[in-house]
Parts: sequence; C-alpha cells; structure tokens
Amino acid sequence: MLVEAKNLPSHVGIIMDGNGRWAQLRGAPRVQGHREGSKAVRNTVRAARRLGLKALTLYAFSEQNWARPGDEVDALMELLREFLVGERDEIVDNGIRLSAVGNLGRLPTLVRAVLDPLRRESEKNDQMTLTLALSYGGREEIATAARELARQVAAGKRKPEEVTEEALHSLMPSLAVGDPDLVIRTGGERRISNFLLYGLAYAELYFADVLWPDFGSPELHEAIASYQQRERRFGLVGKGGLPTSGPGDERRGASVTRIAI
Ligand code: IPE
Ligand code: IPE
Ligand code: MG
Repeated sequence: MLVEAKNLPSHVGIIMDGNGRWAQLRGAPRVQGHREGSKAVRNTVRAARRLGLKALTLYAFSEQNWARPGDEVDALMELLREFLVGERDEIVDNGIRLSAVGNLGRLPTLVRAVLDPLRRESEKNDQMTLTLALSYGGREEIATAARELARQVAAGKRKPEEVTEEALHSLMPSLAVGDPDLVIRTGGERRISNFLLYGLAYAELYFADVLWPDFGSPELHEAIASYQQRERRFGLVGKGGLPTSGPGDERRGASVTRIAI
C-alpha cells in the first residue's frame, strides 16, 4: 500500500470496534479482545506518528459503554491505566501531546491518577496530538457546549444572535485540533455510534471489516490511501472529468512522493 507524503489528513479519528467479536471467534472472554485491542492502539499510534499525522483521536470508551457489564467496564479501565503507564515514555520522548475528551469526571481514580499527570506533562509537545475519547458522546458534547452558550446569554455576556456555528465549535474540546478529515471505523458496522458528531460534517468516512485487534500500520495506510483518492468538495463544485480513482492515479502518482510500507 502506498501513501502520498503530501495530502495527508491532518486529523484522523478512529472508532475502534470489534474487540468482543475478535475474542468470541477464539472462544475467549471479551476481555481478551480488549487486551489485544490495546496492542493495536500502540501499533496504530506509532504508525500515525511515523506518517506525520498532526492529530489522532481514538474512540476508546463511549458514554453509553458504561452500561456494559461491570466486570467488562472494570477490565477496560484497568487496561486503560496499563496503556497510559506503559506508553508514558514513548509519548513523552516522541513529542506527543496526550489529550482526553469526554465526561472525564466519570472515570475512576485509578485512571485519572495516571491520565492527568501525563496530560500536564505532555501539554507543550507538538509533534502529534493523541486524543483519547473517554466516557465520550457526541450528543453529550453538543449539549454541554449549548448549555455553556445558554449560560453566557442568561448572564448577558452574549447576545442570542451570537449563538453561532463558530461559537458552538469553539466550545467542543474534541475539535480543538480541528475537524476530523478522516474517520475510520473497524469491525464492519457502518455507523457512527455517537462519535464526534459536530465535527463530522465534512469528514471522509472509511469503514473496514477488520476487527480492531487486527488493525495496524498496513490497515491505517490503506485507509489513508483511500482518503487520498477522494475529492473533497465541501459543497462546492468539483474539478469534474477525472475519476477519483482508477487510471488517473498513475497520472497523479507521477508527480508525488509516495511512502512505501
Ligand atoms: C470496541 O470493541 C471497544 C469498546 C467499545 C470499548 P467492542 O467491545 O464494542 O467489540 P464488539 O463490537 O462487541 O465486537
Ligand atoms: C463504539 O462502539 C464505541 C467505541 C468504539 C468506544 P460500540 O460497540 O459501543 O458501538 P455500537 O454499540 O456497535 O453502536
Ligand atoms: Mg462494538
């Protein structure tokens, strides 16, 4: 798979789905799938950094996932802690800024105790922002931003006509790194499941059947190569004529640098 060195998506979001089915296929407990999924996270973060992505947002735990069986939730929190402890040096040494979005107040102390120091320690890093969406919901994020604007209006700090699309955007922590250019979902489902709703407006969507524990550098490259063959129009008129994939690829390929994997 060949990825162009330019025209990289700046912000990639990933809905990491399929851990449970990966385990079920092997007759193993779901937690085993989450453990393998954690390894896939490490590989993917490394691949994203090597490619030079500016921002990677990983949907690790949704607000709705709290309703799963208690032992699964506990295991996910423990794995999250292990991930943060195990990846600390690699994150810091490689200039990665570790960020988190979602209803972080709901996370157990065992997670917060490692998450918060790492966020602080890495906040000046500028190579890539790795955002973990934890206890995250897109609708919840929109409602929180709307509530803040309502408070500002009620306090006389903002006029109702200043409740704009931009004002809402600026209050969405998940979009502080910009709107996602590409959103990948593994696991075969074709849905968004409450991820980055507001920012998704013009994101390119890529659905892969591979289960999350089997995702890694080649699959990330494949998704980005697909992104690079698309024409983003943002409601405007396209260039027309040339197909977005097929014979035109070679013509375009002649003038660009490609990274072989
Ligand atoms: C994704 O895998 C991980 C989380 C949602 C936390 P799932 O656990 O949803 O795996 P499937 O979809 O049941 O296979
Ligand atoms: C989406 O996966 C959430 C995460 C990957 C963290 P789910 O497995 O929770 O989504 P649904 O239930 O299939 O929509
Ligand atoms: Mg799932």
